[in-house]
Amino acid sequence: MSKLLVTGGAGFIGSNFVHYWLKIHPEDTVVNFDKLTYAGNLENLSDLKENPHHKFIKGDIANSDDVKGAMEGVDIVVNFAAESHVDRSIQDPAPFVLTNVVGTQVLLDNAKNAKVKRFHHVSTDEVFGALKLDSKEKFNEETKYNPNSPYAASKAASDHLVRAYYETYGLPITITNCSNNFGPFQYPEKLISLSITNLLEGDKVPVYGDGLYVRDWLYVEDHCSAIDLVLQKGKIGQTYCIGVDNDIPNIKVIRLILEALGFGEDKIEHVTDRPGHDRRYAIDAAKIKKELGWKPSFQFEEAINLTVKWYKENEKWWKSLRGKDYLEYYRKQYTQRRDQ
Ligand code: NAD
Ligand code: DAU
Repeated sequence: MSKLLVTGGAGFIGSNFVHYWLKIHPEDTVVNFDKLTYAGNLENLSDLKENPHHKFIKGDIANSDDVKGAMEGVDIVVNFAAESHVDRSIQDPAPFVLTNVVGTQVLLDNAKNAKVKRFHHVSTDEVFGALKLDSKEKFNEETKYNPNSPYAASKAASDHLVRAYYETYGLPITITNCSNNFGPFQYPEKLISLSITNLLEGDKVPVYGDGLYVRDWLYVEDHCSAIDLVLQKGKIGQTYCIGVDNDIPNIKVIRLILEALGFGEDKIEHVTDRPGHDRRYAIDAAKIKKELGWKPSFQFEEAINLTVKWYKENEKWWKSLRGKDYLEYYRKQYTQRRDQ
C-alpha cells in the first residue's frame, strides 16, 4: 500500500492518471495537490468525491508551506503540475518560470526532506527542440536538449533540476519525456480539444501556417500506463521517452476530426503561424518498450473517435470552460491572426 502525492491532478493528464491509478491500484491512497489555475478543474474528479483513497488539497507547488504539509507520509511523488500551453508561454512566459522551474525546485526540496521513495517528473519531448520534416530522425533519451519556446525552456530547466537532485543529493528520481497527448478532460486550447469543441460550436478550426507540422499523438491512457510501469519497474536516475510512432501532420489530424463529425474542408481556417514553431516531433520509445515491456493499447483513429465521442457526450463540461476568460484568451490568440 503506497501513498502518492500527485501534483496537477485536476488538470488533463493528471486527472486521467488519478483515475487510472485508483482503478489499477485501489489499495493505494492519492493525495491530489493542485493550484486550480484556469486549467485545473474539480469537475474532472467529481466521481471520486466519495472515494476515501482520494484526498484533494488546493495548493501551489511554488509555495513551500503548501507543499510541506501535503508531503507528510508520502512514498511517491508524481509531478504533473505545470503551465502547459506553448501559445500562452509566448503571450506571457513569467508564470511558466514560476511554476515549472521554481515550483519543481520547491517540490524537490520538500521531497528530499521527506525522504520519499520516488520522485517521478512528467516532462515533454519539446525539451529536445525540432526535427526536420524531411529527416527520419527521432528523439531518444540521448538527444541533446534544445528547447525553443518559453514553455519548452522551462520544462528543460525543470528536468535539469530533477537530475541535479539525483546526482547531488541522491534523491530517487525518474523522468519521462512524452509526446502530444489527447483524450477526455483536455482543456479546449490544444489542437485536438480545440478543433472538436470549435466544430461542435459551429466554429472553424484555426490551422497555424501550412498545417504540415508533425506531432506524435498519444492517447492519454497509454501515457498513464507508461508512467505506472516506470513507477513499478523503472531504474532510479533514468529517463524514459514515451511515444507511439503516430507522426501525423496537423492538417491530417484535423481532416480525421472533420470526418468524424461530418464536416467538410470549409471548416478549416488558415491563421498566422506560431512564432518559433517546431516543425516536427517524433519519439523513439525503444527503451521503455524493451527494458520495461511497455506497449500502447490504442490505435490513433480509434482513439480520435473515442475522444470525439467523449466531447459530444460531455458538452456541459467543455461549454462551462468557454466563458469570459477563455473568450478573452481566444480573442488575443486568434483575432487578427487570420491569413485569409
Ligand atoms: P494541464 O494544463 O491540463 O494541467 C496542469 C495542471 O497543473 C492544472 O490542474 C493546474 O491547475 C495545475 N497547476 C498549474 N500550476 C500549478 C502550481 N503552481 N501548483 C499546483 N498546481 C498547478 O496540463 P497537462 O496537459 O495535463 O500536462 C500535465 C503535465 O504533463 C505537464 O507537466 C506537461 O508539461 C506534461 N506533458 C503534457 C503533454 C500534453 O500533450 N498535454 C505531453 C507531455 C508532457
Ligand atoms: O509534445 C508534447 C507537448 O504537446 C506538451 O509538452 C505540451 O504541454 C502540449 O501543449 C503539446 O504542445 P504542442 O504545442 O505540440 O500542442 P498544441 O496542441 O498546442 O499544438 C499542436 C500542433 O497544432 C502544433 O503544431 C501547433 C498546431 N496548432 C495548435 C493550435 C492550438 C494549430 O495549427 N492551431 C491551433 O489552434
